[in-house]
Amino acid sequence: MEITSFGVIGSGSMGNGIAQVAAQAGYDVTVFDISESQLDKAWATLQKSLAKLHEKGKLKEAPQDVLKRLKKTTRLEELKSCQFVVEAASENREIKFKLFRDLDSILPSGVILATNTSSISVTEIASKTNRPELVAGMHFMNPVPLMTLVEGIRGLQTSDDCFRIVRGVAENMGKIFIEAKDSPGFVVNRILIPMINEAFFALAEGLATAKDIDTGLKLGCNFPMGPLELADFVGIDICFAVCEVLHRDLGDSKYRPAPLMRKYVEAGWLGRKTGKGVYVY
Ligand code: CAA
Repeated sequence: MEITSFGVIGSGSMGNGIAQVAAQAGYDVTVFDISESQLDKAWATLQKSLAKLHEKGKLKEAPQDVLKRLKKTTRLEELKSCQFVVEAASENREIKFKLFRDLDSILPSGVILATNTSSISVTEIASKTNRPELVAGMHFMNPVPLMTLVEGIRGLQTSDDCFRIVRGVAENMGKIFIEAKDSPGFVVNRILIPMINEAFFALAEGLATAKDIDTGLKLGCNFPMGPLELADFVGIDICFAVCEVLHRDLGDSKYRPAPLMRKYVEAGWLGRKTGKGVYVY
């Protein structure tokens, strides 16, 4: 079956990036969000990103033609005709479980339901549906239009056919696909988040200034962003939440979140999105 219609749940930075890249790949995309104003914000971001990519020659098609393949809605029922859905709602277990129950009851039985979760068990999400073999993880990286990776995660129940289709869709979107087991943090966050966490321990110890920690990793390891700068970019609350999942679910004290990172979250210093994190924006 050729997939032509694509659904995205959630229009935050991940959801709108996924929708944009899916539309660039030629899919007809319907984006669902409970908030109309969030959808409007997502559309503004999308338009800016498409214009930028076009201006740089990275998008050959005219942005307005890509936009014609994108539709927004606040009614989940409007995803009924989608053949492939990626969920990118808030990283909250109960929200995701409810969405998967609802999607399972609304969408025809053969439709694949992928989740962009960065830390919740894909196996557990799949178990909330009557089609667990058609549920898989599809973890995009931020910013989605620029980052080439998609981490594919097989839940315990994911079928080979489903996983093959997920890989095909990711590759059709111009992404490189790696396969990871359904284990806390999968591959990327299992390694990235402890590094960011260690940077907060180093900062708290006064090992070096934030700027020097970041410069050290940028120039010493050729990273595009230092770990603290990246924490601000991803959201310190998100880094902290993933760190807590690693600590709780892997049960190893080496994953304990840095107390300083917790303090930043308590202060509401979450990074770029709040105008202040490790740095001021
Ligand atoms: N769409 C289109 N263009 C965009 C864009 C977007 N979404 N975001 C940035 N750009 C453009 C910028 O406008 C800029 O254009 P100009 O050159 O014309 O000014 C260009 O891309 C380059 O951006 P910058 O100059 O700001 O910075 P950069 O060259 O360093 O590239 C970056 C930006 C790609 C984000 C790079 O800094 C980078 O790779 N950072 C690391 C990102 C990363 O590690 N992401 C993974 C996060 S972890 C995750 O996502 C998993 C999780 O679950 C937590």
